[in-house]
Amino acid sequence: MAMEVIPTGAALGADVRGVDLTQPLSAEEFDAVEQAWLDHSVLLFRDQRLSDDELIRFSQHFGALDIAPASATDMAGAQEKSRSEIWIISNVIENGKPIGALGDKEAEWHTDMSYVDEPPMASVLNAREIPRTGGDTSFGNMYKAFETLPDGLRREIENRVCNHDSSTTSVGELRAGAGEVVDVREAPGAKHPMIRTHPATGGKALYLGRRLNGYVQGMELDASEALLDALWAHCTKPEFTWTHQWRVGDLLVWDNRCTIHRRDSFNGAERRVMHRTQIKGDRPV
Ligand code: SIN
Repeated sequence: MAMEVIPTGAALGADVRGVDLTQPLSAEEFDAVEQAWLDHSVLLFRDQRLSDDELIRFSQHFGALDIAPASATDMAGAQEKSRSEIWIISNVIENGKPIGALGDKEAEWHTDMSYVDEPPMASVLNAREIPRTGGDTSFGNMYKAFETLPDGLRREIENRVCNHDSSTTSVGELRAGAGEVVDVREAPGAKHPMIRTHPATGGKALYLGRRLNGYVQGMELDASEALLDALWAHCTKPEFTWTHQWRVGDLLVWDNRCTIHRRDSFNGAERRVMHRTQIKGDRPV
């Protein structure tokens, strides 16, 4: 069956049909997948029930994998059973320990692991168990957010660098070993340009990481807070976003260099189990 790419009709994302990701892809098949991904920034593949080995093999088409990020303190040890490249995202508790990260809470808008100097360029997420409702994941197109920035805001961020805080996860929990941030100017993390150029497409995108504990280097604190509030209000407008409602077997691959994402909370009495890989990226420029 020939591969078909069907755009979502929203600001980003496409549904890819006619590909079985449990099987190795030929060079031609992967080239077509990669081109679709660069064109649409997020790809959805339905009915892909991958083992961890298959998930890793598919992910490695994009490049070398990063190890999973550090999770919240109360998850210490929970990742032990898993491969180091696989990040389990789940609310399930087994033998008194969470089997994965992020629980059932809302995850705020972010781009993955931007608190390191060389954040992963892509993430691949495969749904194994999902709740009946909730837990939807939304994506935002940061090329479009940049293109539509009012001139004043654009001028304010040209040549500016922002700190991407590493102390908390996207659900606001402290990571293992991190201390609470009392002054965002002193927050740990990585400093990245607020406008980045995509190394493969050449497109310019807004690059913000996450709102919590963000700080624009060299600005007065109040000015930095106001600027970040204005930028986040702009880039999360519905016209730049697309929301995915999961089914078991769905696999999404997204480009962290030009998108942001968030996740809805869900009923903690129901199980949600997702396995994620992250593909190594470059220092943003
Ligand atoms: C994430 O990678 O931020 C989690 C997304 C999700 O749980 O749907």
